[in-house]
Amino acid sequence: MSNLSNKNVLLGISGSIAAYKSAELIRRLQDSGATVRVVMTKSATEFITPLTMQALSQNPVHTELLDEVSESAMGHIELARWADFLIVAPASANLIAELTHGRSDNLLTAICLATSSDILLAPAMNQRMWLNPATQENVALLKSRGYYISTPEDGDQACGETGPGRMAEPNQIISLTNTLFQSDLLTGTNILITAGPTREPLDPVRYLTNHSSGKMGFALAEAACSAGAKVTLVTGPVNLQTPRYVVRYDVETAQDMLETCLEHAPSADIFIGCAAVSDYRPKYRNSEKIKKTDEFFKLELIRNPDVVSHVAGKFERMFCLGFAAETHHVLENARQKLLTKKLDLLVANDVSNPEIGFDSDLNEVSLIWHKGEEKLQQATKTVIAKQIINRLAALYIDSRN
Ligand code: PMT
Repeated sequence: MSNLSNKNVLLGISGSIAAYKSAELIRRLQDSGATVRVVMTKSATEFITPLTMQALSQNPVHTELLDEVSESAMGHIELARWADFLIVAPASANLIAELTHGRSDNLLTAICLATSSDILLAPAMNQRMWLNPATQENVALLKSRGYYISTPEDGDQACGETGPGRMAEPNQIISLTNTLFQSDLLTGTNILITAGPTREPLDPVRYLTNHSSGKMGFALAEAACSAGAKVTLVTGPVNLQTPRYVVRYDVETAQDMLETCLEHAPSADIFIGCAAVSDYRPKYRNSEKIKKTDEFFKLELIRNPDVVSHVAGKFERMFCLGFAAETHHVLENARQKLLTKKLDLLVANDVSNPEIGFDSDLNEVSLIWHKGEEKLQQATKTVIAKQIINRLAALYIDSRN
């Protein structure tokens, strides 16, 4: 069964000659089991008629934002709520620019702004327009906000030029949409995830810690849950809400984190170590506040246990994913950690860039496993988490066969 079965897909069409491919796209979406409704911009109607789209989708086509009849039947907010997924194909350079600026002066852009569902854009335009830095920057910004992009193809264009900008073929768009809807991949699995920093106390008022906010680990917990897994989250001190259906345990030190993980690991199939666990802790924990005396203060540290290595070493059948937060030689160090920590998959995170990684909503990582590597472009942690979970699920299923 297709992942699109019984899903509501809203197909947005903007003004481009590639609009003729949207007719085929409706058919392919329906073949995959989706119900399709169509929204067209005014300029889209210059390329293909609403009547064609209505006949194919078997639903009225929506074109007007301020129309009493359509607003009383199914207005822009209703459509935004109805859609499980939005595909804008073709997405013209102008529409992409409008979305970047959060404009809502036509029905399609208003729905994109109002929906909480995922949006996939299939750009189509002249190759110079596509390569123009304005378009490239707009697309990068939309990606970082969580939009998915079906990269346009290279080839002969309707305008007579040759280059990138041809809208992806309907079957490619369907295949990408299917991947994004892989909701049942981890059904029946238990996943144990660590997130956030640890705090290693020095005295009753001071501790050693780091900048981890927990956002990446919490996004992974949410994505794993959406993929059907039962998720247990062991987190250091963070200021985040627990995702729905996730069972959460709060811990403080690396030792607490290890103990809680060892307690829950026997029932887990997959372990994800995303926490920024302190490698060292103060050798002595003063029961009273340390007083200011000499000019210099020597702090003696001892090694903390390595949570992910303990779990991977003790539960050999468990599928283990670790992170590597690195500031230099990122890929080399990460490949090394995959081996030394006996992991199945490693996420290499370059934390030298303050725009991503620690305490940011964005991330950009490389996935490294024993037979391959994949770079994930900069995006929100929600999107990166989905992509990590998709890769993890594929490798996990492979490892069990
Ligand atoms: O929390 P955010 O603000 O969203 O930031 C996300 C993040 C940057 C913390 C995250 O993406 C990340 O990179 N997490 C790993 C941080 C880290 O401790 O990396 P490391 O290279 O030092 O450790 C390698 C692996 O060993 C990690 O899986 C870590 O969880 C684990 N480890 C490390 C030390 C230790 N004592 N026990 C461990 O389990």
